[in-house]
Amino acid sequence: MKRIIIVFISAALLLLISGCGKNNITESSMSAADSTADSSSTVEQPAVKAMAKAHSTEIIDGVTYIDGILIVNKTYSLPKDYNYGLTDETLESFNKMKKAAAKDNISLEIASGFRSYEEQETLYKEYSAENGQKEADTYSARAGYSEHQSGLAIDVNGADFSMVGQKDMKWLEKHCSEYGFIIRFPKGKENITGYSYEPWHIRYVGKKTAKEIKKQGVCLEEYLGVDSEYK
Ligand code: DAL
Ligand code: ZN
Repeated sequence: MKRIIIVFISAALLLLISGCGKNNITESSMSAADSTADSSSTVEQPAVKAMAKAHSTEIIDGVTYIDGILIVNKTYSLPKDYNYGLTDETLESFNKMKKAAAKDNISLEIASGFRSYEEQETLYKEYSAENGQKEADTYSARAGYSEHQSGLAIDVNGADFSMVGQKDMKWLEKHCSEYGFIIRFPKGKENITGYSYEPWHIRYVGKKTAKEIKKQGVCLEEYLGVDSEYK
């Protein structure tokens, strides 16, 4: 009983601290997974889980950051004029990775890096006209909802489902976290990311986070406790 009380007090303190720590556009939240605790669990488990998964959300100039990580997906959009090209860190990290891959006789090229709101709009309209909107939504983001607009995403060597299983994609899967990238739309996470498996689309999150995400075997939505759905 004493242990249960301590756990609840700790969780309450954590919520209090995270709620007070930053300015008024910051709020703390629990990930979706928190509410799915097994009903057969003992009382203290949800509290322990909650402590481990409290997230902070900040919205700065229309851009959402969860735990300091920029998020853009079907739920979180970017302002139309968010137009900064690939970030220096993304490009530098990609170039380091490219050099390392070349030593393994693997060629990595940027097929698509930064895409503006307008470029994404054109692309999405083309795909929708070709295959219908429902189908397009499984592999192409609507304007304002593409990670390519963030300057943190790169399509490596193309963007084509025939690339699945190719040796360059396997190399990327194995090594990209060492350079701070994650495979943003992993296999088996389609219902969470909202997109088909894209082994070529990498997202820069920094080495520590990339390695942690890989180790946990989660997608970015799971890691940050968010969903990805057009509302
Ligand atoms: N292919 C990804 C989902 C994009 O269009 O941003
Ligand atoms: Zn992409």
